[in-house]
Amino acid sequence: MLIFSNSIFLKTLFLILMILRTMVHIKCRSNYYPFGAIKRLDFPDNLVPWSVAFNNYHPPEYNSPNLLNKPWADPDITEPNFNPQWNELDDKVNRKSYMGVYNVSDGRPLNPRGRTGLTGRGVLGRWGPNHAADPVVTRWKLFDDGKREIDQSTNLYILQFCAIKRRDSDEWALPGGMVDPGEQVSSTLQREFLEEALNSLESTPGELESNKKMVSDFFSSGYEIYKGYVDDPRNTDNAWMETVAVNFHDEEGNLVGKFQLNAGDDAKSVQWMDIDQSLALYASHSLFIQTAAMLHGAHW
Ligand SMILES: *[C@@H]1O[C@H](CO)[C@@H](O)[C@H](O)[C@H]1NC(C)=O
Repeated sequence: MLIFSNSIFLKTLFLILMILRTMVHIKCRSNYYPFGAIKRLDFPDNLVPWSVAFNNYHPPEYNSPNLLNKPWADPDITEPNFNPQWNELDDKVNRKSYMGVYNVSDGRPLNPRGRTGLTGRGVLGRWGPNHAADPVVTRWKLFDDGKREIDQSTNLYILQFCAIKRRDSDEWALPGGMVDPGEQVSSTLQREFLEEALNSLESTPGELESNKKMVSDFFSSGYEIYKGYVDDPRNTDNAWMETVAVNFHDEEGNLVGKFQLNAGDDAKSVQWMDIDQSLALYASHSLFIQTAAMLHGAHW
């Protein structure tokens, strides 16, 4: 019985990962580009791959003026001193894609998933891949007496994950963020969790130090759920999001699972959220959460 259900879990897991890696990107082809009134060129799915000829493909261009002179962003692509090394670790900026070698046309990197109906880098800081990291931090939902709570419909234990409310879209999401130049992904995962989730905790300097030590031990072992392209509304023909999503699980609930995350900070809500298929989360985050639930044989 256990072997049987395990193999179902594995098959489902495999399916989710296949979907993530191969699905036609949709979110980055919605009519209006986020944070602006730029309308993407509308075209049918079969013309998405660059390998399919599309003779009169002349999408609009958008480059957010807010990115100019930002230390974390690339210069304008026409800047004479800007000589990006595409598909390479360019000084400290990682311009390699997890999806393999991407093409460059007229000096611009091409989205490995195909056309998006918009050229330029939009609101993304980097031309080409923009690397992010998403920690999926989980614990079991417990009653006050420490017993695990079971979902009545599936008869499976309920898993919870650390969720934050995004300021830009008001959607619940993972507490992820961008990988800094030269930074290891493992450091990004931990840093983002500390910044986004634990900043809301009121703690004395002594508590803060011991928490940081515990968190860094906790983050030393995780399970990689996904690595690759993400279908993100900000993607364009020349700039796109990629992420590494890693599950860090607190089985006993006595490490990061002991933190009360809903500390009443209205500026940005953070909480332990029950994992269930009715959750509507930002971008591909629902699939990461589902994968985590499958991994632990939890309710979904
Ligand atoms: C790069 O261009 C070649 C030739 O047009 C094409 O066959 C290949 O699929 C492209 N690769 C990607 C990742 O888009």
